[in-house]
Amino acid sequence: MNQILPSLFAADLMNLKEECDGLYEEGFQILHVDMMDGNFVPHIAFGPEQIKSIKKQVKMKLDVHMMVSAPEHQIASVLETGAEMISVHYESTPHIRYVIDQIKQHGRKAGVVINPGTDPSLLKPLLNTIDYILIMSINPGRPNQTFITETIDRIREIKALIGSRDIQIEVDGGVDEHIASKCMEAGASMVVIGSYLFADNKAHLKALKNLEK
Ligand code: DX5
Ligand code: ZN
Repeated sequence: MNQILPSLFAADLMNLKEECDGLYEEGFQILHVDMMDGNFVPHIAFGPEQIKSIKKQVKMKLDVHMMVSAPEHQIASVLETGAEMISVHYESTPHIRYVIDQIKQHGRKAGVVINPGTDPSLLKPLLNTIDYILIMSINPGRPNQTFITETIDRIREIKALIGSRDIQIEVDGGVDEHIASKCMEAGASMVVIGSYLFADNKAHLKALKNLEK
C-alpha cells in the first residue's frame, strides 16, 4: 500500500490540533514530524517534549525524522515520545548502528535517512536491520524547496539494493501529486508532503489521497 505522509512542519502552528484532526478525518494515517537542532540543519523545530505533547493529542501514528547532530544523545528522549517510526540521518553520526539498534530494541520501526549527496551503497551494512530508507529529495532543513530530479533514479537504485528484503522506501522534500506518483512508480511506498499539501488544503489534499492504494 502506498501512503502519503503529511509533514507537520508545513502546518499552521497556531492550529496544529485542528490541522491534525482534519488530516486524520481525511484518512491520513501517519504524520511526519521533523526534528531540527539548528546544528545538523540551520533551523530549529519540534523537540522531544513537543513531540510527546503532539503524540498525546494526535490520532495518527508519528514518523519522527531526526535532523540532529549526535542523535545517539537524543534517541532515548525521542523513544520516550512514543513515536511509532523514527528515522536518523546516516550523515549525522558515526554511531548509526547503535541508534538504529536502540529504535529496534524498543519495538519501533527504524529508518535511515540519506541526503542527496550520499552514496546509497553506504547503507549496505544496515540493510538487515532497518525497516525503511528515507531518501531526501531536497537538502534537508527547510520546506518549500525544489525536488531534485535525480531522486527518481536514486529510488530505483535503492530499490535494487534492497532486493527482496522487507524495507520500505520513503521520499521527503519538494513533492506534489505528480512527483509523488513518479516516486511511487519508481518504488517508493511512503511520500512526505509539506507545503503542497497545506497550500490549498482541500483540493491538494484530496488529489494526494487518491494516490494511496
Ligand atoms: C525538510 C523536511 C520536510 C519538509 C517537507 O527538511 O524534512 O519534511 O517539511 O516539506 P516540503 O514538502 O514543502 O518540501
Ligand atoms: Zn522530513
